[in-house]
Order: sequence, then structure tokens, then C-alpha cells
Amino acid sequence: MGDMSNIRNIVILTGAGVSAESGIDTFRSAGGLWENHRVEDVATPEAFARDPDLVLRFYDARREAIQTKAPNPAHDALARLDAGWGGKLLLVTQNVDDLHERAGSRRLIHMHGEHLSVWCTFCDARHRWRDPLLDRPPCPNCGSPALRPDIVWFGEMPYRMDEIYAALREADLFVSIGTSGAVYPAAGFVQSARELGARTLELNLEPSQGSYLFHECRHGPAGEVVPEWVEELLGG
Ligand code: OAD
Ligand code: ZN
Repeated sequence: MGDMSNIRNIVILTGAGVSAESGIDTFRSAGGLWENHRVEDVATPEAFARDPDLVLRFYDARREAIQTKAPNPAHDALARLDAGWGGKLLLVTQNVDDLHERAGSRRLIHMHGEHLSVWCTFCDARHRWRDPLLDRPPCPNCGSPALRPDIVWFGEMPYRMDEIYAALREADLFVSIGTSGAVYPAAGFVQSARELGARTLELNLEPSQGSYLFHECRHGPAGEVVPEWVEELLGG
């Protein structure tokens, strides 16, 4: 991809496409999660207030499902890059599964939250969590039956945006992997990165909505194109 010799600082954004080959449904594809569930019914604070059982059941099923899946060669390659890259690197994921960390990525931000975390709306504590929430287990900290999925719903603010924009300001290379570019603010990172002087690369199964915003695009399954790109970067 052009001249990579002057690249030191990298920001990588991943979306559901990076976990697709692990057998986790994406959101917007045919048969994806948002085809079978209306976003407004399960992924907004209003939905949770109106019908908490429906929302908790939806996330209980997803939380259970991800625990039976394993990282694929794309997650593995990104973990190798994290371990082997001497410059700054930040992996920002929109995914709420834990496959990046299970593969070994360390410099990682879950901007949309995590399936394996719960948030107590009474005392504000967060806890690692693997079990269902439908039966309203007590918060380990305060005892209130007030735990909700630690997931950023539509209308809520993604996590750690200050750190993400700080990394984008320093980035020489911004890479977007397996995301449709439909959800802001993540969909705007490519434009911010470009304006701040970074080179931009899209790795996706097909051209995304924002493909035209990237300097370069490589299309194919993440399990193939991501390892190829990582070997290029680490080998070069
Ligand atoms: P989407 O489902 O919108 O997009 C997934 C993208 O991955 C699409 O562009 C696919 O073409 C691509 N894709 C599918 N299989 C792939 C493969 N094997 N290799 C590479 N790419 C592949 O998912 P996101 O962009 O992640 O938010 O969605 C963004 C946010 O919308 C999610 O974080 C979620 C959702 O609503 C919340 O839940 C807060
Ligand atoms: Zn609590």
C-alpha cells in the first residue's frame, strides 16, 4: 500500500465483519441481527425501559453465544501486530464480543461496550459477567437487582472517545476492518484521520458505504486480507 516506511502510529477500527468467520452474526447483512430484530426494540434505553425482559433475553442469548465461539485468523493477525509493532497502536473495536482479547490483543478499546461486562444502574459499578441477567441477579457491589448489559445503545455515548481522538491525531495510518460505516461516530473516524494527515485503508468483504473516503481498499474475507496485510507490515 504505497510507502509504509514512514508509518509509526496506527489506529485500527474493527466491526462485526472481523468476527463473521468465527460464526458471530453481523448486524446489517442478509440474515444479520438487525434483519430479525428491530434496533428500536432491543438496542435503545427506551426499549429497555419499556420491555426490559425482551432486551435482557436478547443480550443473554448473544452473551451465551459468543462464549462458544473462537477467534479466527483475522483476530490472531491483529494480536500479532499488537505484539510486534514498536510504534503506537490502538485497536478500537465496535464489537461487543471478546475475541480480540482472547486472541491476545492488548492495546484495545471496546467503544460500544462488552457482552461480558454488566453495569449497575443503581451504584454505577461494572463487573465481569458471563451469566444471564433475565432473572435479575443482585449487583455484587450494592445488592440491587439493577444490572444491565454494559453495551452502548443507540442514543448513548460511545466509551473513551477522548482517547480515540487523541490516537487519531497521532496516527500515520488508519485502517478500518469489517465495518459497514453505517454507525457514527465510528463511521466518521476515516474522515477525521484523513484530515489529521493519516493514510487510510479499508479491509472489508465488499466496498462499504464509505469506501470512497479511503486512500486504498482491499476487499475479501477478513480471515484472508487481514493476515496478508499484517505480514506485509511486520515483514516490511
Ligand atoms: P455491520 O453488520 O453493519 O457491517 C459488517 C460489515 O462487515 C459489512 O460491511 C460486511 O460486508 C462486512 N463483512 C461481513 N463478513 C465479512 C468477512 N468475513 N470479512 C470482512 N468483512 C466482512 O456491522 P458494524 O459495522 O460492526 O452497534 O456495525 C456497527 C454497529 O452497528 C455495531 O457495533 C452495533 C450495530 O448496531 C451497537 O450495538 C451499539
Ligand atoms: Zn450496584
